[in-house]
Amino acid sequence: MKPSRLRLAVLISGSGRNLQAMIDAVGAGTLAADLVGVIANRADAYGLERAKRAGIPVQVIPHTAFAAREAFDAALGTALDALAVDVVALAGFMRILGAPLVERFQGRMLNIHPSLLPLYPGLHTHQRALDAGDAQSGATVHYVTPTLDAGPAILQGSVAIHPGDTAASLAERVMSEVEQHIYVEVLRWCADGRLRLHNGNVWLDGRERGAPLRWPALH
Ligand code: GRF
Repeated sequence: MKPSRLRLAVLISGSGRNLQAMIDAVGAGTLAADLVGVIANRADAYGLERAKRAGIPVQVIPHTAFAAREAFDAALGTALDALAVDVVALAGFMRILGAPLVERFQGRMLNIHPSLLPLYPGLHTHQRALDAGDAQSGATVHYVTPTLDAGPAILQGSVAIHPGDTAASLAERVMSEVEQHIYVEVLRWCADGRLRLHNGNVWLDGRERGAPLRWPALH
């Protein structure tokens, strides 16, 4: 069943360039979603300004205001329920969410991670790719499961590592050439009713995909 318009909430902690790509795609009419809310765990997240400029309701739920992770997760869950979201997109959201919240949004919570998962879950991904002498780096959009950066991978794109690259130059290239394209692409599949998680596996267009899809060569 194709949902009419996807109700999408985005969780951020920082600059919000992935969020901006979503805002631009919705504005251009190439992503049939309504950005119903942007929630940040930090009041200084620049992505909040991007959201406000686009007229999207914002909320700050500071993790520091809660004594325990469970209480923070519960507040987040309440906010997401109030927005009646179909899909939650973690986009540079730097908090680990507990299993109860993640499981409640199973198959409806996505994350983008700046590496070619399963390589380099966690932090400092581009530096780790450089240190390992890798020829490529990239990014992956995946379903969120309770294990950090380990949920089923949906779509991946890569860039070549150039001589002289630093973690910063690589991060910038992966952002502009991969991240800002693949997240919107996956959200389009959600909005068009083409993507689902079934028994822990990614299904696109009625076919189970054993390995992450590759962007831009998808099929
Ligand atoms: C991105 O590289 C994302 O993959 C990582 O954090 C960065 C966030 O960037 N998890 P932005 O907030 O979307 O600009």
